[in-house]
Amino acid sequence: MVEDSLSPAAITDGLATRFIGQEVSCYPSLPSTNDVAKHKARQGAKEGTVIVAEEQTAGRGRIKRRWLSPRGSIALSIILYPELAYLPSLIMVASLAVAGSIEQVTNLKAQLKWPNDVLVNGKKICGILVESDVRGNKVDYAVIGIGINVNLKLSDYPEIAPMATSLSQELGRDVSRHEIIRSLLTEAERLYLALPDGDSVFTQWRNRLVTLGKKVQVGSGKATYRGIAESVTADGSLLLRQPDGNLLKIVAGDVTLR
Ligand code: BTN
Repeated sequence: MVEDSLSPAAITDGLATRFIGQEVSCYPSLPSTNDVAKHKARQGAKEGTVIVAEEQTAGRGRIKRRWLSPRGSIALSIILYPELAYLPSLIMVASLAVAGSIEQVTNLKAQLKWPNDVLVNGKKICGILVESDVRGNKVDYAVIGIGINVNLKLSDYPEIAPMATSLSQELGRDVSRHEIIRSLLTEAERLYLALPDGDSVFTQWRNRLVTLGKKVQVGSGKATYRGIAESVTADGSLLLRQPDGNLLKIVAGDVTLR
């Protein structure tokens, strides 16, 4: 192992952000960092506050799935108070920030899979869960939850091993989680602050999606659709060209490449 445990001091050491990661709380174990982040947001935590856990005992994924985050992985949540118009872009900010941090720290090539997976060599290395509370047209808070498989031996987790990987598995050595977190928080702030400047974050996200142009199967609710993943819209939806020529807009779902 390149480090024993995560600490706020080591995360903030040299972190040149204005607000994301300037307040950090690290916990040895939590059910879910997103739940603690939501609780702190409701109590008025500063924008950019980060909650980190060494392990989660009830980590949550999308569509009520479980998310495994044992020691050696990164589980963190960032509290933000965006304008309503920027809410759909948070997944883009988070995915690009994770991909950028993996590439900067390890030189591995990261790919994005719609809607919110980060892959390395075609296998899932990170999951992102954005949760928010909106009242009327005002966002009370948004929480970006990020789980990254860093120093994990996937053979210890046979239930995810076929489709998942970790940075240590890809590199054959352990990676500093502090370095990944610092780079991730720096990238996240840069991209978040760029949201008012037009569609550059959306364009970067769209250009990085490995899903586009591929034959896919999309599970959405109880329905399954097949077709070509043609494009995405600025609100993060997928545009699927169906075999009958119709273009279907899918707001939420799970993609399998065919
Ligand atoms: C997914 O791929 O389905 C999303 C997984 C999101 C996991 C992260 S880990 C930190 C935060 N806390 C949680 O309980 N979930 C998110």
